[in-house]
Amino acid sequence: MFKRTKFILANWKMNKNSNETIDFLNALNNNLPPTKQLQVGIAAQNVYLEKMVNYVRSNNIPLEIFSENLFYTQEGSYTGETSPAALTDIGIKGSIIGHYERRNLFKESNGIIGLKVAASLKNKLIPVLAISEDTTDYDPESASMSPLTELAIALAGVDKSIANNIVIAYEPSWAIGTNKTMTNLDITHAAKVIRKSLKIILGDNIADQVRILYGGAVNTQNANTIFNLSNIDGLLIGRASLSHNSFLEIINSVTNV
Ligand code: PGA
Repeated sequence: MFKRTKFILANWKMNKNSNETIDFLNALNNNLPPTKQLQVGIAAQNVYLEKMVNYVRSNNIPLEIFSENLFYTQEGSYTGETSPAALTDIGIKGSIIGHYERRNLFKESNGIIGLKVAASLKNKLIPVLAISEDTTDYDPESASMSPLTELAIALAGVDKSIANNIVIAYEPSWAIGTNKTMTNLDITHAAKVIRKSLKIILGDNIADQVRILYGGAVNTQNANTIFNLSNIDGLLIGRASLSHNSFLEIINSVTNV
């Protein structure tokens, strides 16, 4: 079976100013594990991304910088949008796509999200495709489950030969920004449903390489247990990633086992 590199991604959302961003990166310096042991990334507001990339590179910090969104064409008349080519140009590693807040507040559909996933792959960016359906009641043996439909639309246009670079972030909408996490049993079940759906859409070989992250109310107390659940390859962390103390505590808790 394929050995998937574990991955922890911070989602800062619309938080932190320029100084706070650099102070945070400075606090991570010399405190992160090597990337081949654990891939660590931060997704931040576009306005600070290039500065972050430059800081990380000049200080040799094993940290990758992600955007929280992108558009699906290379260039053109799309006022206010960010081209995937521009993100690649400044050294961005990947992008969160279809986060629940974008689906909910900005009405992004699975069709639009699918175009963004395909554009990311084309531009050598890792698409972190966020899905937020509640899988608690779905039967992994059934072919008509909702995550399968959601994933099938979002992955319809991808080039399968590079689809192994896709990361899925499973975040039940009711857990985001709350203190409610899914039970370990439900997370395991959800990850199994997603893996099975990926196998149907992408084939066994590619689906085995796709990493599945869990997100939604991850904190210093629950991170290690969730991180080690079957089919879970890492975490997408919102609030607990805003303090470097709790972010590093989570990283240490999953690497020192
Ligand atoms: P949370 O957010 O960790 O603050 O619940 C996670 C997310 O929205 O990605």
